[in-house]
Amino acid sequence: MNPVKILHTSDVHGEIDRLCALLSRPDYDLWVDTGDLQPDRWREGARANFDRQQAWWADGSVARRLRLALADRPVVLCYGNHDHYEFGGLIDAHHVGVHQCAEVLGLRFAGFADTPVIARDYFPRQRDPAALATLVRGMVRLAPDVLMTHAPPSGPWSHKPAWGLPGLAEALQTSQGIQAHLCGHIHERGTEGPQWVGPVPLYNSARRHNLLAVTPRPPVA
Ligand SMILES: [Fe+2]
Repeated sequence: MNPVKILHTSDVHGEIDRLCALLSRPDYDLWVDTGDLQPDRWREGARANFDRQQAWWADGSVARRLRLALADRPVVLCYGNHDHYEFGGLIDAHHVGVHQCAEVLGLRFAGFADTPVIARDYFPRQRDPAALATLVRGMVRLAPDVLMTHAPPSGPWSHKPAWGLPGLAEALQTSQGIQAHLCGHIHERGTEGPQWVGPVPLYNSARRHNLLAVTPRPPVA
């Protein structure tokens, strides 16, 4: 089977001109975004940012620009802790889930948006470590080709251990079938090219982008 070329972005934070320029390039098959795509002023709180983001999409111009740049290429999306308005339907995005893979161009994707608590008062997708560890176990058990989370694993990839997902690095060390882990959230740890968690290449594309190729597994006979 042919490799699928994935363009990965994260933490765009409303920079739509830069994003559309990137999505207009011809050298990818599928766009994956791992959250915090929309503009926000986090100190103003969730309600004000929901209204801001809803207004950003309201006249349809942002979705039109994205669709034009994508030129019918599919999108796989997980939200981030700064995404208050759920916009995926406007661009026909596939969503990842903890209990169900999204299958796109022959690749299986799973993941979630939830992050550790950094400032509990500004977004309800932040969870405590026990809840996150449960999500991580469920997600890794699905053995998707591509794992997507907004936050990176806890450890050197997360700047401060408490800002990363508990148990994920350990699970990736012994995982089977996961060919890439895509994330963002920790801008200080974004890199061009992979970092490695045991055998799994980890791409943190916060405030940047990465292009990677992943080959679908042959169907089980
Ligand atoms: Fe984030």
